[in-house]
Amino acid sequence: MKLITNIHQLLVTGTYEKPVKGNDMATMPYISNAYLMIKDDRIYQYGKMSDMPPTAIDEVIDATGKIVLPMWCDSHTHLVYAAGRENEFVDRINGLSYEEIAQRGGGILNSVERLRELDEDTLYEDALKRLHELIALGTGAIEIKSGYGLSTESEGKMLRVIARLKKQVDIPIKATLLAAHAIPKEYKDNRLKYIQLIVEEMIPAFAKANLCDFIDVFCESGYFTVSEMEEILIAGKKYGLVPKVHVNQFNAIGGIQAAVNHQALSVDHLEELNAEDIDALVNNATIPVALPGCSFFLNIPYTPARRIIDAGLPIAIATDYNPGSSPSGNMNFVVSQACIQLKMTPEEAIIAATINGAFAMDVASQTGSITKGKKANLIITKPLDSFYAIPYRFGQHQIEQLILNGKLL
Ligand code: NIG
Ligand code: FE
Repeated sequence: MKLITNIHQLLVTGTYEKPVKGNDMATMPYISNAYLMIKDDRIYQYGKMSDMPPTAIDEVIDATGKIVLPMWCDSHTHLVYAAGRENEFVDRINGLSYEEIAQRGGGILNSVERLRELDEDTLYEDALKRLHELIALGTGAIEIKSGYGLSTESEGKMLRVIARLKKQVDIPIKATLLAAHAIPKEYKDNRLKYIQLIVEEMIPAFAKANLCDFIDVFCESGYFTVSEMEEILIAGKKYGLVPKVHVNQFNAIGGIQAAVNHQALSVDHLEELNAEDIDALVNNATIPVALPGCSFFLNIPYTPARRIIDAGLPIAIATDYNPGSSPSGNMNFVVSQACIQLKMTPEEAIIAATINGAFAMDVASQTGSITKGKKANLIITKPLDSFYAIPYRFGQHQIEQLILNGKLL
């Protein structure tokens, strides 16, 4: 048994049957002057120091002045990719928009070209390196999408890489099939054929091979229409793939209502959100996910998190780590952005980045909160006056130690 003593503040304690929503997000449960016991890879017991039961302990970690919280849960990433897109970054500085770059054959299709050329082992090694970097930044559970292959062979290559990461790295990892990320250039004049390929070949093959958990579509003007998204979600659901979609990034075209109708686990982006979109989410289980790193990097509007929370809804935040619209997988920065740009309180932001993120990728039974029996995946900060310092010190991180599966990293 390991014991962490004298924890200044132990955050996100208790049990969570559902994502935390609306007003409840403002009151993140935490315990001041706390202890936490770890048995093997699990949280065994926790509470106030004054209530600590006498227990035989093998190892004591003194956390005087420090904050302990669950590791971040990043529910939306494109971690597997072949190369950065620094040239497009400079093109945008010089005045081109993300959409203009895409129309010139850059953007997602640029990443597709590079990924198709790259061998699977290198793709895996690069992704593994990135994943270790993110774990060092406090990420303890992650969702990873395909979507830079856009052919059965290359989407399969990406999904196999994710499967290898799942085997190699002992954190909860979820895989999402995003074959509907863009129309590949060989189907430019025949989009119906490409959608048919996704529906009739990719989904059955990848689902049967157990290579994915979720089905995603980039529902956006110039990418996939609402009815195309619905067709793909229906096909995915037949094979047990749960919808989790990109909607309302640049335009509100009705994707949210459709995603809710198909019981999507989450709707992600939501930079453009109208009143009907919010109404569609109210009283439904679909979780809105904000990706502020993307808004920052592309200079597009931020997801109106206040309107979402004030409508009584839950919200999760994630990095959207990808080479085109958010080349950072740093959840610490996203938590700061949630406070600074989305006007979420530190309590709301931390809830959104932990337990709500866990729900948004269906790993909440294993992680995302300080709950007896959950994985001991914990961040121990430097000494801080309060947890407010976590988002306050933007662009840095306050992590001193990490405990992963009960072991000090
Ligand atoms: O979530 N919006 C679509 N997909 C990614 C960007 C992908 C890319 O530019 O490579 C996103 O922002
Ligand atoms: Fe994305």
